[in-house]
Amino acid sequence: MCAAATFENRALYVHIPFCQGICAYCDFTRVRYHAGLADQYLTQLARELEERVPCKGMETVYIGGGTPTALSLDQLRRLLDLLQPYLQGAAEVTIEANPEAISTELIE
Ligand SMILES: C[S@@+](CC[C@H](N)C(=O)[O-])C[C@H]1O[C@@H](n2cnc3c(N)ncnc32)[C@H](O)[C@@H]1O
Ligand code: SF4
Repeated sequence: MCAAATFENRALYVHIPFCQGICAYCDFTRVRYHAGLADQYLTQLARELEERVPCKGMETVYIGGGTPTALSLDQLRRLLDLLQPYLQGAAEVTIEANPEAISTELIE
């Protein structure tokens, strides 16, 4: 289900504020990864998308952070599932990743 309100912006940025470690110099909104907190965050994100972001085709979807790949594989699947309506027809979809966390399973 998607929001019905008029929404002109066709670029969606989704912030995933979790990291495996915290870099002292970093000014971005981020906390150390905690599985329960990340589950709650995804639940709230789903609610906000449903209430505020209509499913009109996005030109770009950018998933940043934080470090989105700090999420568990199940949480990443959940994130991509709830973003699915916004990915249809997008010219560009980006997700930030920590090279140390990359695996074939993760990429798939
Ligand atoms: C916020 S991180 C997100 C992606 C991922 N967690 C990472 O560290 O690459 C994106 C980039 O912002 C840079 N960055 C973080 N805090 C910064 C700051 N205060 N000034 C300049 N660059 C910063 C990081 O070095 C990193 O290359
Ligand atoms: S967002 Fe990137 S730079 Fe900032 S604390 Fe996390 S890993 Fe470090």
